[in-house]
Amino acid sequence: MQITLVTTPIEQTPADALIVPVFEGRKESRFSAGLLSESGEVAGKPLEHTLLHHVPGVNAVRILLAGAGKPDRFDPSELRKLTGAAVRFLKSKSIKNVALALENVQFTSEFVSAAVEGALLGDFEPDRHKTGNDKKSVDSFTVVAPGPLGGLTSPAGLDAALARGRIIGESTNFARDMINEPGNLLTPLKMAEAARAMAAEQGLEYEILDREAMEKLGMGSLLGVSIGSAEPPAFIVLRYRPAATASGSAHLGLVGKGVTFDTGGISIKPADSMEKMKYDMAGGAAMIGAMRALAQLKPSIPVTAFVPCVENMPGSRAQRPGDIVTAMSGKTIEVINTDAEGRLILADALTYARHQGCTHLVDAATLTGAIVVALGHLHVGLFTNDDGLRDRVLAASKAEGERMWHMPLDEDYREYLKTAFADIANVGGRWGGAVTAAIFLKEFAEDTPWVHLDIAGTAWLDDAKPYLAKGPTGLPVRTLVRLAMDW
Ligand code: BES
Ligand code: ZN
Ligand code: ZN
Repeated sequence: MQITLVTTPIEQTPADALIVPVFEGRKESRFSAGLLSESGEVAGKPLEHTLLHHVPGVNAVRILLAGAGKPDRFDPSELRKLTGAAVRFLKSKSIKNVALALENVQFTSEFVSAAVEGALLGDFEPDRHKTGNDKKSVDSFTVVAPGPLGGLTSPAGLDAALARGRIIGESTNFARDMINEPGNLLTPLKMAEAARAMAAEQGLEYEILDREAMEKLGMGSLLGVSIGSAEPPAFIVLRYRPAATASGSAHLGLVGKGVTFDTGGISIKPADSMEKMKYDMAGGAAMIGAMRALAQLKPSIPVTAFVPCVENMPGSRAQRPGDIVTAMSGKTIEVINTDAEGRLILADALTYARHQGCTHLVDAATLTGAIVVALGHLHVGLFTNDDGLRDRVLAASKAEGERMWHMPLDEDYREYLKTAFADIANVGGRWGGAVTAAIFLKEFAEDTPWVHLDIAGTAWLDDAKPYLAKGPTGLPVRTLVRLAMDW
Protein backbone atom coordinates (compact mmCIF):
# COMPACT_ATOMS: atom_id res chain seq x y z
CA MET A 1 0.00 0.00 0.00
CA GLN A 2 1.35 3.39 -0.97
CA ILE A 3 1.05 5.86 1.88
CA THR A 4 1.37 9.62 1.52
CA LEU A 5 0.55 12.85 3.27
CA VAL A 6 -0.69 15.85 1.31
CA THR A 7 -1.59 19.38 2.29
CA THR A 8 -3.70 20.19 -0.75
CA PRO A 9 -7.18 21.49 0.15
CA ILE A 10 -9.50 18.60 0.86
CA GLU A 11 -11.90 19.56 -1.95
CA GLN A 12 -9.08 19.30 -4.48
CA THR A 13 -7.65 15.98 -3.32
CA PRO A 14 -8.26 13.31 -5.95
CA ALA A 15 -9.33 9.90 -4.63
CA ASP A 16 -11.72 7.07 -5.41
CA ALA A 17 -13.07 7.69 -1.95
CA LEU A 18 -12.43 10.33 0.68
CA ILE A 19 -13.06 9.22 4.27
CA VAL A 20 -14.58 11.99 6.41
CA PRO A 21 -15.09 11.33 10.15
CA VAL A 22 -18.50 12.42 11.43
CA PHE A 23 -19.10 12.84 15.14
CA GLU A 24 -22.17 11.99 17.15
CA GLY A 25 -24.21 15.06 18.10
CA ARG A 26 -22.20 17.41 15.92
CA LYS A 27 -23.44 19.35 12.91
CA GLU A 28 -21.99 16.69 10.60
CA SER A 29 -19.25 17.55 8.17
CA ARG A 30 -19.32 20.38 5.67
CA PHE A 31 -19.36 17.67 3.01
CA SER A 32 -22.65 16.24 4.15
CA ALA A 33 -24.41 19.36 5.34
CA GLY A 34 -27.48 20.00 3.27
CA LEU A 35 -27.41 16.49 1.85
CA LEU A 36 -28.24 14.43 4.87
CA SER A 37 -28.48 16.60 7.93
CA GLU A 38 -32.23 16.44 8.06
CA SER A 39 -32.64 12.81 7.11
CA GLY A 40 -31.21 11.45 10.34
CA GLU A 41 -29.36 8.80 8.35
CA VAL A 42 -26.00 9.94 9.64
CA ALA A 43 -25.84 9.67 13.40
CA GLY A 44 -22.04 9.56 13.69
CA LYS A 45 -22.18 6.32 15.68
CA PRO A 46 -18.84 4.49 15.79
CA LEU A 47 -18.03 2.56 12.61
CA GLU A 48 -21.26 3.62 10.83
CA HIS A 49 -20.73 4.18 7.08
CA THR A 50 -22.57 6.36 4.54
CA LEU A 51 -21.23 6.48 0.99
CA LEU A 52 -22.00 9.60 -1.08
CA HIS A 53 -21.34 9.80 -4.82
CA HIS A 54 -20.42 12.88 -6.86
CA VAL A 55 -20.61 15.45 -4.11
CA PRO A 56 -20.57 18.90 -5.76
CA GLY A 57 -17.33 20.85 -5.44
CA VAL A 58 -15.27 17.83 -4.40
CA ASN A 59 -12.63 16.18 -6.54
CA ALA A 60 -12.90 12.75 -4.93
CA VAL A 61 -15.30 10.40 -6.72
CA ARG A 62 -16.98 9.43 -3.45
CA ILE A 63 -17.17 10.59 0.13
CA LEU A 64 -17.41 8.04 2.90
CA LEU A 65 -18.93 9.54 6.02
CA ALA A 66 -17.42 7.45 8.78
CA GLY A 67 -19.05 7.50 12.21
CA ALA A 68 -16.55 8.58 14.84
CA GLY A 69 -18.69 8.41 17.99
CA LYS A 70 -18.68 11.00 20.76
CA PRO A 71 -16.07 13.71 20.19
CA ASP A 72 -14.84 13.65 23.81
CA ARG A 73 -14.14 9.91 23.58
CA PHE A 74 -12.28 10.15 20.31
CA ASP A 75 -8.59 9.27 20.59
CA PRO A 76 -5.92 7.71 18.34
CA SER A 77 -7.25 4.21 19.12
CA GLU A 78 -10.70 5.22 17.89
CA LEU A 79 -9.21 6.72 14.74
CA ARG A 80 -7.21 3.50 14.15
CA LYS A 81 -10.44 1.52 14.22
CA LEU A 82 -12.27 4.12 12.12
CA THR A 83 -9.71 4.02 9.29
CA GLY A 84 -9.44 0.23 9.54
CA ALA A 85 -13.20 -0.20 9.21
CA ALA A 86 -13.40 2.36 6.40
CA VAL A 87 -10.64 0.64 4.44
CA ARG A 88 -12.35 -2.74 4.87
CA PHE A 89 -15.68 -1.30 3.78
CA LEU A 90 -14.19 0.40 0.71
CA LYS A 91 -12.02 -2.49 -0.45
CA SER A 92 -15.03 -4.82 -0.29
CA LYS A 93 -16.38 -2.56 -3.06
CA SER A 94 -13.11 -2.79 -5.01
CA ILE A 95 -12.24 0.83 -4.29
CA LYS A 96 -8.48 1.25 -4.63
CA ASN A 97 -7.35 4.80 -3.92
CA VAL A 98 -8.43 6.09 -0.57
CA ALA A 99 -7.85 9.38 1.22
CA LEU A 100 -8.62 10.46 4.78
CA ALA A 101 -9.65 14.01 5.67
CA LEU A 102 -8.48 14.82 9.17
CA GLU A 103 -10.10 18.24 9.34
CA ASN A 104 -12.49 17.43 12.18
CA VAL A 105 -9.91 15.53 14.13
CA GLN A 106 -7.26 16.94 16.41
CA PHE A 107 -4.25 16.93 14.15
CA THR A 108 -1.36 15.51 16.14
CA SER A 109 1.34 13.07 15.15
CA GLU A 110 -0.31 10.36 17.32
CA PHE A 111 -3.47 10.65 15.24
CA VAL A 112 -1.53 10.52 11.96
CA SER A 113 0.34 7.36 13.00
CA ALA A 114 -2.84 5.70 14.22
CA ALA A 115 -4.67 6.49 10.97
CA VAL A 116 -1.92 4.85 8.91
CA GLU A 117 -1.76 1.83 11.23
CA GLY A 118 -5.53 1.42 10.98
CA ALA A 119 -5.42 1.44 7.19
CA LEU A 120 -2.65 -1.17 7.04
CA LEU A 121 -4.17 -3.40 9.73
CA GLY A 122 -7.61 -3.18 8.11
CA ASP A 123 -6.21 -4.06 4.70
CA PHE A 124 -4.62 -7.31 5.93
CA GLU A 125 -6.29 -10.58 4.91
CA PRO A 126 -5.28 -14.08 5.99
CA ASP A 127 -5.75 -15.37 2.43
CA ARG A 128 -2.22 -15.70 1.09
CA HIS A 129 -2.79 -19.37 0.26
CA LYS A 130 -5.94 -18.77 -1.81
CA THR A 131 -5.21 -19.03 -5.50
CA GLY A 132 -8.36 -17.33 -6.86
CA ASN A 133 -8.46 -13.78 -8.16
CA ASP A 134 -11.03 -12.53 -5.68
CA LYS A 135 -8.40 -10.83 -3.52
CA LYS A 136 -9.24 -7.31 -2.52
CA SER A 137 -6.90 -4.65 -1.21
CA VAL A 138 -6.46 -0.91 -1.22
CA ASP A 139 -3.61 0.43 -3.38
CA SER A 140 -3.05 3.85 -1.87
CA PHE A 141 -3.88 5.67 1.33
CA THR A 142 -3.45 9.43 1.51
CA VAL A 143 -3.73 11.46 4.68
CA VAL A 144 -5.00 14.94 3.87
CA ALA A 145 -3.71 17.48 6.37
CA PRO A 146 -5.95 20.47 7.08
CA GLY A 147 -4.54 23.62 5.44
CA PRO A 148 -3.08 25.44 8.45
CA LEU A 149 -1.53 22.93 10.79
CA GLY A 150 -2.38 25.19 13.68
CA GLY A 151 1.26 25.14 14.77
CA LEU A 152 0.60 21.77 16.38
CA THR A 153 3.07 19.76 14.40
CA SER A 154 5.92 20.54 12.06
CA PRO A 155 5.86 19.08 8.54
CA ALA A 156 8.91 16.99 9.44
CA GLY A 157 7.06 15.71 12.52
CA LEU A 158 4.18 14.70 10.30
CA ASP A 159 6.42 12.78 7.94
CA ALA A 160 7.93 11.00 10.92
CA ALA A 161 4.46 10.20 12.24
CA LEU A 162 3.43 8.81 8.87
CA ALA A 163 6.60 6.69 8.71
CA ARG A 164 6.08 5.44 12.27
CA GLY A 165 2.52 4.39 11.43
CA ARG A 166 3.73 2.56 8.34
CA ILE A 167 6.55 0.78 10.19
CA ILE A 168 4.27 -0.34 13.03
CA GLY A 169 1.42 -1.33 10.72
CA GLU A 170 3.68 -3.29 8.38
CA SER A 171 5.56 -4.96 11.23
CA THR A 172 2.31 -6.03 12.88
CA ASN A 173 1.14 -7.48 9.57
CA PHE A 174 4.51 -9.22 9.22
CA ALA A 175 3.82 -10.94 12.54
CA ARG A 176 0.22 -11.71 11.52
CA ASP A 177 1.36 -13.37 8.30
CA MET A 178 3.76 -15.54 10.27
CA ILE A 179 1.12 -16.48 12.86
CA ASN A 180 -1.32 -17.44 10.12
CA GLU A 181 1.09 -19.87 8.45
CA PRO A 182 0.11 -23.50 8.99
CA GLY A 183 2.33 -25.91 10.89
CA ASN A 184 3.48 -27.77 7.78
CA LEU A 185 4.78 -24.58 6.15
CA LEU A 186 6.10 -22.85 9.27
CA THR A 187 8.25 -25.35 11.13
CA PRO A 188 10.74 -24.18 13.77
CA LEU A 189 13.50 -24.04 11.14
CA LYS A 190 11.28 -22.08 8.74
CA MET A 191 10.37 -19.64 11.49
CA ALA A 192 14.06 -19.16 12.25
CA GLU A 193 14.77 -18.65 8.54
CA ALA A 194 12.03 -16.00 8.30
CA ALA A 195 13.46 -14.20 11.35
CA ARG A 196 16.96 -14.41 9.89
CA ALA A 197 15.84 -12.92 6.56
CA MET A 198 14.00 -10.10 8.33
CA ALA A 199 17.00 -9.38 10.57
CA ALA A 200 19.39 -9.27 7.61
CA GLU A 201 17.06 -6.88 5.79
CA GLN A 202 16.56 -4.61 8.81
CA GLY A 203 20.14 -4.64 10.07
CA LEU A 204 19.54 -6.56 13.30
CA GLU A 205 22.12 -8.92 14.76
CA TYR A 206 20.83 -12.47 14.78
CA GLU A 207 21.81 -15.84 16.08
CA ILE A 208 20.03 -19.18 15.76
CA LEU A 209 20.84 -21.77 18.42
CA ASP A 210 20.44 -25.31 17.09
CA ARG A 211 19.77 -28.46 19.10
CA GLU A 212 23.47 -29.03 19.77
CA ALA A 213 23.97 -25.51 21.08
CA MET A 214 20.93 -25.91 23.33
CA GLU A 215 22.24 -29.24 24.62
CA LYS A 216 25.54 -27.57 25.52
CA LEU A 217 23.65 -24.86 27.39
CA GLY A 218 21.70 -27.51 29.30
CA MET A 219 18.26 -26.49 28.07
CA GLY A 220 16.68 -29.79 29.12
CA SER A 221 13.24 -28.32 29.65
CA LEU A 222 13.02 -26.88 26.13
CA LEU A 223 14.58 -29.94 24.48
CA GLY A 224 12.19 -32.28 26.28
CA VAL A 225 9.29 -30.67 24.42
CA SER A 226 10.97 -30.83 21.01
CA ILE A 227 12.13 -34.46 21.27
CA GLY A 228 8.82 -35.93 20.09
CA SER A 229 8.95 -34.15 16.75
CA ALA A 230 10.92 -34.99 13.62
CA GLU A 231 11.26 -31.22 13.17
CA PRO A 232 14.39 -29.97 14.94
CA PRO A 233 14.03 -27.06 17.40
CA ALA A 234 15.50 -23.61 16.78
CA PHE A 235 16.14 -20.83 19.28
CA ILE A 236 15.98 -17.41 17.63
CA VAL A 237 17.95 -14.52 19.14
CA LEU A 238 17.61 -11.04 17.58
CA ARG A 239 19.62 -8.13 18.91
CA TYR A 240 19.02 -4.41 18.51
CA ARG A 241 21.77 -2.16 19.88
CA PRO A 242 21.55 1.67 19.93
CA ALA A 243 24.49 3.65 18.50
CA ALA A 244 25.54 4.55 22.05
CA THR A 245 24.42 2.86 25.24
CA ALA A 246 24.58 4.83 28.47
CA SER A 247 26.33 2.96 31.26
CA GLY A 248 23.84 1.40 33.62
CA SER A 249 21.23 1.44 30.84
CA ALA A 250 18.32 -0.95 30.97
CA HIS A 251 18.45 -3.90 28.58
CA LEU A 252 15.00 -5.10 27.56
CA GLY A 253 14.52 -8.79 26.79
CA LEU A 254 11.47 -9.87 24.77
CA VAL A 255 10.74 -13.57 25.17
CA GLY A 256 8.08 -15.19 22.95
CA LYS A 257 6.55 -18.67 22.85
CA GLY A 258 7.27 -20.24 19.46
CA VAL A 259 5.35 -23.52 19.38
CA THR A 260 4.80 -23.87 15.62
CA PHE A 261 2.17 -26.51 16.27
CA ASP A 262 0.77 -27.78 19.57
CA THR A 263 -0.87 -31.21 19.39
CA GLY A 264 -0.53 -31.48 23.16
CA GLY A 265 2.05 -34.26 22.78
CA ILE A 266 1.26 -37.52 24.59
CA SER A 267 -1.34 -35.59 26.64
CA ILE A 268 -2.94 -35.11 23.24
CA LYS A 269 -5.58 -32.44 22.57
CA PRO A 270 -9.07 -33.29 21.26
CA ALA A 271 -9.48 -32.93 17.47
CA ASP A 272 -12.06 -30.16 17.78
CA SER A 273 -10.31 -26.85 16.98
CA MET A 274 -6.86 -28.43 17.07
CA GLU A 275 -6.14 -26.81 13.69
CA LYS A 276 -5.98 -23.48 15.47
CA MET A 277 -2.90 -24.59 17.37
CA LYS A 278 -0.86 -23.31 14.44
CA TYR A 279 -1.12 -19.96 16.22
CA ASP A 280 0.72 -21.24 19.28
CA MET A 281 3.77 -19.30 18.10
CA ALA A 282 1.92 -15.94 18.18
CA GLY A 283 3.95 -14.67 21.15
CA GLY A 284 7.20 -15.42 19.34
CA ALA A 285 5.97 -13.84 16.12
CA ALA A 286 4.91 -10.72 18.03
CA MET A 287 8.45 -10.38 19.42
CA ILE A 288 9.94 -10.78 15.94
CA GLY A 289 7.45 -8.24 14.56
CA ALA A 290 8.28 -5.79 17.36
CA MET A 291 12.01 -6.18 16.60
CA ARG A 292 11.31 -5.46 12.93
CA ALA A 293 9.73 -2.15 13.95
CA LEU A 294 12.38 -1.29 16.55
CA ALA A 295 15.19 -1.86 14.03
CA GLN A 296 13.74 1.09 12.10
CA LEU A 297 12.47 3.26 14.96
CA LYS A 298 15.73 2.93 16.95
CA PRO A 299 14.94 3.16 20.67
CA SER A 300 17.69 4.39 22.99
CA ILE A 301 18.01 1.15 24.98
CA PRO A 302 19.30 -2.25 23.82
CA VAL A 303 16.53 -4.76 23.10
CA THR A 304 17.01 -8.49 22.53
CA ALA A 305 14.33 -10.94 21.44
CA PHE A 306 14.45 -14.61 22.45
CA VAL A 307 12.11 -16.99 20.62
CA PRO A 308 12.37 -20.71 21.37
CA CYS A 309 10.70 -22.58 18.48
CA VAL A 310 9.54 -26.19 18.75
CA GLU A 311 6.78 -28.46 17.50
CA ASN A 312 4.88 -30.34 20.24
CA MET A 313 4.19 -33.84 18.89
CA PRO A 314 3.34 -37.27 20.27
CA GLY A 315 5.39 -40.23 19.05
CA SER A 316 7.66 -43.02 20.16
CA ARG A 317 10.40 -40.53 21.09
CA ALA A 318 8.07 -38.05 22.77
CA GLN A 319 8.37 -37.19 26.44
CA ARG A 320 5.91 -38.91 28.76
CA PRO A 321 3.80 -37.67 31.64
CA GLY A 322 5.94 -38.27 34.72
CA ASP A 323 9.23 -37.58 32.95
CA ILE A 324 11.65 -35.42 34.88
CA VAL A 325 13.80 -32.91 33.01
CA THR A 326 16.53 -30.56 34.21
CA ALA A 327 16.18 -26.94 33.13
CA MET A 328 19.11 -24.68 32.24
CA SER A 329 18.77 -23.02 35.65
CA GLY A 330 19.50 -26.39 37.28
CA LYS A 331 15.97 -26.89 38.59
CA THR A 332 14.25 -30.23 37.98
CA ILE A 333 10.72 -30.33 36.55
CA GLU A 334 8.20 -33.15 36.66
CA VAL A 335 6.25 -33.06 33.39
CA ILE A 336 2.77 -34.03 34.56
CA ASN A 337 1.05 -32.88 31.37
CA THR A 338 2.92 -32.65 28.05
CA ASP A 339 0.33 -30.14 26.80
CA ALA A 340 1.67 -27.57 29.27
CA GLU A 341 4.69 -27.22 26.96
CA GLY A 342 4.80 -23.44 26.57
CA ARG A 343 6.04 -22.88 30.11
CA LEU A 344 8.67 -25.60 29.63
CA ILE A 345 10.28 -23.89 26.66
CA LEU A 346 9.91 -20.43 28.20
CA ALA A 347 11.63 -21.56 31.40
CA ASP A 348 14.92 -22.08 29.56
CA ALA A 349 14.37 -19.00 27.38
CA LEU A 350 13.95 -16.81 30.48
CA THR A 351 17.10 -18.26 32.05
CA TYR A 352 19.04 -17.70 28.82
CA ALA A 353 17.76 -14.10 28.56
CA ARG A 354 18.94 -13.43 32.13
CA HIS A 355 22.37 -14.88 31.32
CA GLN A 356 22.51 -12.59 28.29
CA GLY A 357 22.33 -9.57 30.60
CA CYS A 358 18.72 -8.49 30.24
CA THR A 359 17.72 -6.23 33.13
CA HIS A 360 13.98 -6.35 32.33
CA LEU A 361 11.98 -9.14 30.72
CA VAL A 362 8.61 -9.21 28.99
CA ASP A 363 7.28 -12.49 27.67
CA ALA A 364 4.24 -13.09 25.48
CA ALA A 365 2.71 -16.52 25.09
CA THR A 366 -0.49 -18.27 24.06
CA LEU A 367 -0.05 -20.06 27.34
CA THR A 368 -3.36 -21.21 28.80
CA GLY A 369 -6.97 -21.92 27.97
CA ALA A 370 -7.62 -20.74 31.52
CA ILE A 371 -6.87 -17.11 30.63
CA VAL A 372 -9.58 -17.33 27.97
CA VAL A 373 -12.00 -18.56 30.64
CA ALA A 374 -10.98 -15.71 32.94
CA LEU A 375 -10.81 -12.75 30.52
CA GLY A 376 -12.47 -13.87 27.29
CA HIS A 377 -11.10 -12.43 24.07
CA LEU A 378 -10.84 -8.81 25.17
CA HIS A 379 -7.96 -8.50 27.64
CA VAL A 380 -4.46 -9.89 27.68
CA GLY A 381 -3.67 -11.38 31.10
CA LEU A 382 -0.71 -9.56 32.67
CA PHE A 383 1.33 -11.16 35.48
CA THR A 384 4.40 -9.61 37.05
CA ASN A 385 6.95 -9.64 39.83
CA ASP A 386 7.66 -5.92 39.48
CA ASP A 387 5.21 -3.03 39.87
CA GLY A 388 7.42 -0.53 38.03
CA LEU A 389 7.66 -2.65 34.89
CA ARG A 390 3.95 -3.44 35.16
CA ASP A 391 3.14 0.30 35.15
CA ARG A 392 5.30 0.88 32.09
CA VAL A 393 3.65 -1.99 30.18
CA LEU A 394 0.13 -0.97 31.21
CA ALA A 395 0.76 2.65 30.19
CA ALA A 396 2.01 1.52 26.76
CA SER A 397 -0.90 -0.86 26.31
CA LYS A 398 -3.42 1.82 27.23
CA ALA A 399 -1.93 4.28 24.75
CA GLU A 400 -2.06 1.62 22.04
CA GLY A 401 -5.57 0.34 22.73
CA GLU A 402 -4.28 -3.19 23.37
CA ARG A 403 -6.24 -4.02 26.52
CA MET A 404 -4.45 -5.80 29.38
CA TRP A 405 -5.56 -6.81 32.86
CA HIS A 406 -3.27 -7.21 35.87
CA MET A 407 -3.74 -10.69 37.38
CA PRO A 408 -2.59 -11.98 40.80
CA LEU A 409 0.68 -13.79 41.39
CA ASP A 410 0.80 -14.34 45.17
CA GLU A 411 3.54 -16.61 46.43
CA ASP A 412 0.86 -18.82 48.02
CA TYR A 413 0.00 -20.20 44.58
CA ARG A 414 3.44 -21.86 44.50
CA GLU A 415 1.90 -24.61 46.66
CA TYR A 416 -0.12 -25.77 43.64
CA LEU A 417 3.06 -26.74 41.78
CA LYS A 418 4.56 -28.88 44.55
CA THR A 419 5.53 -32.44 43.70
CA ALA A 420 7.23 -35.17 45.70
CA PHE A 421 9.49 -36.10 42.80
CA ALA A 422 11.14 -32.92 41.50
CA ASP A 423 11.66 -29.24 42.33
CA ILE A 424 8.48 -28.20 40.55
CA ALA A 425 5.60 -29.72 38.55
CA ASN A 426 4.60 -28.23 35.21
CA VAL A 427 0.89 -28.08 36.05
CA GLY A 428 -1.04 -27.18 39.15
CA GLY A 429 -4.39 -28.90 38.98
CA ARG A 430 -7.77 -27.70 37.86
CA TRP A 431 -8.08 -24.21 39.37
CA GLY A 432 -6.34 -20.95 38.59
CA GLY A 433 -4.62 -22.40 35.55
CA ALA A 434 -3.42 -19.09 34.13
CA VAL A 435 -1.98 -18.09 37.51
CA THR A 436 -0.15 -21.38 38.12
CA ALA A 437 1.34 -21.17 34.61
CA ALA A 438 2.62 -17.69 35.47
CA ILE A 439 3.91 -18.90 38.86
CA PHE A 440 5.86 -21.56 37.01
CA LEU A 441 7.48 -18.92 34.78
CA LYS A 442 8.24 -16.68 37.76
CA GLU A 443 10.45 -19.46 39.13
CA PHE A 444 12.72 -18.94 36.10
CA ALA A 445 12.48 -15.15 35.83
CA GLU A 446 13.83 -15.25 39.41
CA ASP A 447 14.64 -11.75 40.66
CA THR A 448 14.75 -10.02 37.27
CA PRO A 449 11.87 -7.55 36.81
CA TRP A 450 9.50 -9.42 34.53
CA VAL A 451 6.06 -9.17 32.97
CA HIS A 452 4.26 -12.18 31.51
CA LEU A 453 1.51 -11.60 28.93
CA ASP A 454 -0.87 -14.52 28.38
CA ILE A 455 -2.29 -13.85 24.91
CA ALA A 456 -4.14 -17.16 24.38
CA GLY A 457 -7.49 -15.32 24.15
CA THR A 458 -6.37 -12.25 22.21
CA ALA A 459 -3.86 -13.40 19.58
CA TRP A 460 -6.54 -14.81 17.28
CA LEU A 461 -10.00 -13.57 16.23
CA ASP A 462 -12.53 -16.31 15.47
CA ASP A 463 -14.77 -13.76 13.77
CA ALA A 464 -13.76 -10.67 11.81
CA LYS A 465 -14.27 -7.23 13.34
CA PRO A 466 -15.32 -4.29 11.15
CA TYR A 467 -11.70 -3.04 11.33
CA LEU A 468 -9.80 -6.36 11.45
CA ALA A 469 -9.98 -9.61 9.49
CA LYS A 470 -10.62 -12.97 11.12
CA GLY A 471 -7.43 -14.67 12.29
CA PRO A 472 -4.20 -13.29 13.79
CA THR A 473 -4.40 -9.91 15.55
CA GLY A 474 -0.69 -9.21 16.01
CA LEU A 475 -1.17 -8.32 19.69
CA PRO A 476 0.93 -7.09 21.53
CA VAL A 477 3.35 -5.72 18.91
CA ARG A 478 2.28 -2.10 19.36
CA THR A 479 2.56 -2.20 23.16
CA LEU A 480 6.06 -3.68 23.00
CA VAL A 481 7.24 -1.12 20.47
CA ARG A 482 5.91 1.76 22.58
CA LEU A 483 7.39 0.26 25.74
CA ALA A 484 10.86 0.28 24.18
CA MET A 485 10.44 3.68 22.50
CA ASP A 486 9.17 5.38 25.69
CA TRP A 487 11.83 3.88 27.98
N1 BES B 1 -1.31 -23.66 23.59
C1 BES B 1 -2.08 -24.05 24.71
C2 BES B 1 -2.94 -22.93 25.28
C3 BES B 1 -4.01 -22.35 24.39
C4 BES B 1 -5.32 -22.73 24.57
C5 BES B 1 -3.71 -21.40 23.46
C6 BES B 1 -6.31 -22.16 23.81
C7 BES B 1 -4.70 -20.85 22.67
C8 BES B 1 -6.00 -21.22 22.86
C9 BES B 1 -1.19 -24.55 25.83
O1 BES B 1 0.00 -25.13 25.44
C10 BES B 1 -1.97 -25.59 26.58
O2 BES B 1 -2.30 -26.57 25.99
N2 BES B 1 -2.26 -25.32 27.84
C11 BES B 1 -3.02 -26.22 28.63
C12 BES B 1 -2.40 -26.29 30.01
C13 BES B 1 -2.97 -27.38 30.87
C14 BES B 1 -2.53 -28.71 30.35
C15 BES B 1 -2.49 -27.17 32.27
C16 BES B 1 -4.44 -25.70 28.73
O3 BES B 1 -4.62 -24.48 28.80
O4 BES B 1 -5.37 -26.49 28.66
ZN1 ZN C 1 -0.17 -27.20 25.00
ZN1 ZN D 1 0.77 -24.46 23.61
